[in-house]
Amino acid sequence: MSSTIEQLKARFSQAFVAAFGAELADTDPILVPASNPKFGDYQSNAPLSLTKKLGQPPRAIAEQIVQQLNVSDFCAPPIIAGPGFINLTLKPEYLAAQLRSMQAGERLGIEPVKQPQKVVVDFSSPNIAKEMHVGHLRSTIIGDSVARTLEFRGHDVLRLNHVGDWGTQFGMLITYLREACPEALTTSNALELGDLVAFYKRAKQRFDEDEAFKEASRQEVVRLQAGAEDSVRAWQLLCEQSRQEFQTIYDRLDIHLTERGESFYNPLLAAVVEDLNKLGLLVEDQGAKCVFLEGFTNKDGQPLPLIVQKSDGGYNYATTDLAALRYRIQQDEADRIIYVTDAGQSNHFAQFFQVAKRAGWIPETVEVVHVPFGLVQGEDGKRLKTRSGDTIRLKDLLDEAIVRFRDYLEADLKEKGREESEDFKAHVAEVVGISAIKYADLSQNRNSNYIFSYDKMLAPIGNTAPYMLYAYARIQSISRRGEIDFAHLGETAKISLKNEKELVLGKHLLQLNNTIEAVEQDLLPNRLCLYLYELGQKFNQFYEECEVLKAEEPSRTSRLALCDLTARTLKLGLSLLGISVLERM
Ligand code: ARG
Repeated sequence: MSSTIEQLKARFSQAFVAAFGAELADTDPILVPASNPKFGDYQSNAPLSLTKKLGQPPRAIAEQIVQQLNVSDFCAPPIIAGPGFINLTLKPEYLAAQLRSMQAGERLGIEPVKQPQKVVVDFSSPNIAKEMHVGHLRSTIIGDSVARTLEFRGHDVLRLNHVGDWGTQFGMLITYLREACPEALTTSNALELGDLVAFYKRAKQRFDEDEAFKEASRQEVVRLQAGAEDSVRAWQLLCEQSRQEFQTIYDRLDIHLTERGESFYNPLLAAVVEDLNKLGLLVEDQGAKCVFLEGFTNKDGQPLPLIVQKSDGGYNYATTDLAALRYRIQQDEADRIIYVTDAGQSNHFAQFFQVAKRAGWIPETVEVVHVPFGLVQGEDGKRLKTRSGDTIRLKDLLDEAIVRFRDYLEADLKEKGREESEDFKAHVAEVVGISAIKYADLSQNRNSNYIFSYDKMLAPIGNTAPYMLYAYARIQSISRRGEIDFAHLGETAKISLKNEKELVLGKHLLQLNNTIEAVEQDLLPNRLCLYLYELGQKFNQFYEECEVLKAEEPSRTSRLALCDLTARTLKLGLSLLGISVLERM
């Protein structure tokens, strides 16, 4: 099924040829959605753009186009307005037919892309032995939604967790491990270090206070890099401990990732530096090897260097990213590589992208994109922290959202006089709490800073997860009350759009495809959130005005089918945000 816009474009092309000759066949009809629904659905601005070329006033041109324009199978007669726009209104029967093709099948009529790409989405990527903080949570939530959307579109997505599992801090950590739990290295028992963040703090304290400890740490780095067995084992133990902690968060959020940390690229780092040297891009500056950047200068206007090898021989974050980029292009055969991190790293990405481009490592056909996001702030506009000023642990953050929604739910059920089991309440609170955190993050334009507010994200009204989930559950309750099996209804029910509110809802449902395509392009999930929110609102307006269960046939069936399609659209859309629906809440 070709889209309405495509069909209209073809009809315009025919009209241009009939009215003005073959050389105008490729004229852009400049079709845009109508600015006001009063004027119809689409507006063509072509008559204005053709005035110069044809030497005629726009209204005269519009008249000639309209005379030749054959769209009667799906539009009401075109209307010329203002200085010479052509307004088009889609026929309700045409919209109903489009909706019918949406009803069939789980994908709601959305076909996968014809040319799937191999896409790497690099997201989450916390650092071993350090805390997984709210910034990583944002990356996790946004990255997962981007990956889900691309997967749904049919792309082959590799979800990579580029964990920070390498670096000089491991010298300090291993030295401290030897000192604090020597038995960890000799027994085969799993490590029980408790809180790894606290462990890191104690190690750092020892490092700062004791010169001998510092020296031992330095030597430990050398031993680890040389592959000394006991050092490698200690490193693995530390990584494993962190991994388990991260995994509990991923499980709760239903996030799936392939771990391929920085250490994976170690064997490839030397070649990066060597190749840059061969290409004549490398400069030695006070013992460090670097590439001088174009367009990045220090305060004296001198070009900034990107250091790829320090004077002590060590490599940097950027060196690893260069190696990873080459690997993803050459070995993973990626067509598109997406990195989801806070906007604070924008320079880092712009810089190593530039070096890779100048080195000729990014083929024309490969797109590399940094997907930045703003800070997470508390309601005071400052960095998010606990009342006592500590950083908030992600686990506590999720728990708090769940507890708060549970309170709301209890009160709501009581007010409605509903009795529900403990299991029911616990499950609903868990799903809504987690969904609320995800949705709050995704519904913001990711480029702006994001103010974390439990009250806002848990509100049952507004652009929030509870609102969306209630809307879905309400529709399911209609089917229960009417003892209607939506699954059965879906294939056979005939939709017709008679009432104004039905039309508005139907047209909005048909925008799903465009919305998903837009997210695929610009990687802004907030567009999908807005679409779903508006869908919820339009559904409510329809439901307020139109009887459903009590309506006469054939309206009743048609409206039930609209309810079903709305519910399925909500479910699909929410699934692309990593949110699962509740049948009852
Ligand atoms: N570990 C980094 C951090 O916590 C994020 C890594 C992002 N990915 C990348 N390829 N640089 O800031």
